[in-house]
Amino acid sequence: MSPTDGNGIRLDPALIVIFGITGDLAQRYLLPSLYHLIKDGLLHDQTEIVGITRGTTSVQGLFDKVELCVNEADEVCDPAALKAMRDRTMMVQADLNNPDDYDALLKQLNDLEEQRGVCMNRLYYLSIPPQAYTSVIHLLGERGLNSGCQHHKATSRLLVEKPFGFDAGSAQALIDEIAKSFDEEQVFRIDHYMAKETVQNILTFRFSNPIFEALWSEKYISSIEISAKEKIGIEGRAAFYEPLGALRDFIQSHLLQILGFITMDQPSVLDSKHIHSAKQAVLEQVEAVPAGQVGERTLRGQYKGYRKEVDNAESTTETYAAITVFINSARWRGVPVRLLSGKALDERKTEVCVTFRDEPHGDGTNQLRFRIQPNEGIELDLVTKKPGYAHELQTTIMDFSYQKDFDNHGHPNAYERVLVDAVRGDHTLFATSQEVMSSWRIVQPVLEDWANRSEDLRFYDPGSIGPR
Ligand code: BG6
Repeated sequence: MSPTDGNGIRLDPALIVIFGITGDLAQRYLLPSLYHLIKDGLLHDQTEIVGITRGTTSVQGLFDKVELCVNEADEVCDPAALKAMRDRTMMVQADLNNPDDYDALLKQLNDLEEQRGVCMNRLYYLSIPPQAYTSVIHLLGERGLNSGCQHHKATSRLLVEKPFGFDAGSAQALIDEIAKSFDEEQVFRIDHYMAKETVQNILTFRFSNPIFEALWSEKYISSIEISAKEKIGIEGRAAFYEPLGALRDFIQSHLLQILGFITMDQPSVLDSKHIHSAKQAVLEQVEAVPAGQVGERTLRGQYKGYRKEVDNAESTTETYAAITVFINSARWRGVPVRLLSGKALDERKTEVCVTFRDEPHGDGTNQLRFRIQPNEGIELDLVTKKPGYAHELQTTIMDFSYQKDFDNHGHPNAYERVLVDAVRGDHTLFATSQEVMSSWRIVQPVLEDWANRSEDLRFYDPGSIGPR
C-alpha cells in the first residue's frame, strides 16, 4: 500500500526513531499522533517506529503506559490500529553517550531495511532534554547515522524540539554542531504552533482575501497583540521549565513565529522557500528590545506556589511574560506589537488581535481576531445599526468558526502535521536557523536584563488574569 495524505502526496516508508520515547512529550503528543496517522491510513505500512530508551521498557510496557486514544474526535478507539502500531514498534535500549550504542542502532536500522527490502527515510526525533542534544547530534554524525541506507544524506532527517538553545550564543553553537553532520535540508526545527491549522490559516486569510491585505499596514492598524494564555501550570515538568521561563518557552519561539506570519510581506510564491524568506525578512526588521527600555517594555510574573513545585525557594523563573516590540519598516513603523504568554491563568486562549485605527468619522473600533485555540476561527468586530427607529449602534461580530463552517470535521493536530511534513520532507512549517537566531536577537537584551535583577518579578494567584 502507498498511502496518500489529504493533498494526494505519497508518504514513503520511514524509520521514525524517537529518542526519549518514554518521556513526557512522546507520551502526550508523539505516540497519540502516530496512532492517529496509522488509524487514518496515512503512514506507509512499512514504516517502523523505533523507540530509544535508557531503561528496559518493552513494547508492551510502553503501550501499557500511554493513552493512545486521547484526542479522538469520535472518542472511539480502533483496536486494529492499536495492534498495527504495536506491531510496527520496536524498542532499543541505549546509553545516549555511548558511541557503541549508536553503532548497534545503525546496524539495527540497516537490518530492518534489508529485511523489508526497501530503503527508508530515517527520522531522528530528539524528544529528550535540550541539554542532551549536542552529544546525541555529535554521535549521530560521528557514527554515520546521518546518511541514509543508500548513503544519500537527504534520506536521514533530524527533528529538533524547542527550545533551540537557551540564548543567542548557545543557539548558534547548536546550529554549528548540527552543521558538522547534517545539511540544512536534513534539519527540521519543530515549532508545533506553526503546524496548528489556525496559524496556517493566517497566510490564507491575508493573501487570499485582498480586502484585508490592502489595510495591512501602520496606516490602518494601530496595534497588534499576540497572546498565549494557559490554564495549566508546569504540570510537574520542573526540570524542563525552571531553566526556561515563559519568554524562552513561548515568546522566543511560538509567538515570534506567529508574528512573522502576521506581519510578513506577501511572498511572490506561497512555497516553503518564499514563505521562509518573507518571514525572515520581517523578523530581521523587528527591533531588539533596547537594553535601557526593558523595564517599560516588559512585564514578568510568577504564579504563587511555583517555587514549591520546582523546589527552589529563590526561583526567579517567570511563568508569565509580556514584551512590546516594534518593527523597523515603512509598513509597520510605530505599531506596537505586544507578545504575551502565561501559565496558571484564568483561561486557556491563544489569539492574535489586530486593532484598526479609529477614524474621525467612524463610530467604533474594528478589531480582527485570529482565534488560534480553543474555538478556532477568525472574527471581526463591526459597528452595526440596531433595528428600530432610533439610530442606535452596536458592535457585532462577523464570525468564521472551524466547528460551524467546516461541519465539525476533525483536522490533523499539530504533531500529526509535524510528523507528516517531516516524513514527506516539507520544511514550510519548521523554523530555519536564521529565524531562530533572529528571534533570540530580539529577546536577548530582555534575557540579560532579567538575569541581572529580579525586583520587578510580580507574583500572581493561580487562576487569575496574571500580574498587572
Ligand atoms: C510547549 C510548551 O511548546 O507548548 C509548553 O513548552 C506548553 O509549556 C505547550 O504547555 C502548549 O502547547 P499546546 O499545543 O497545548 O497549546
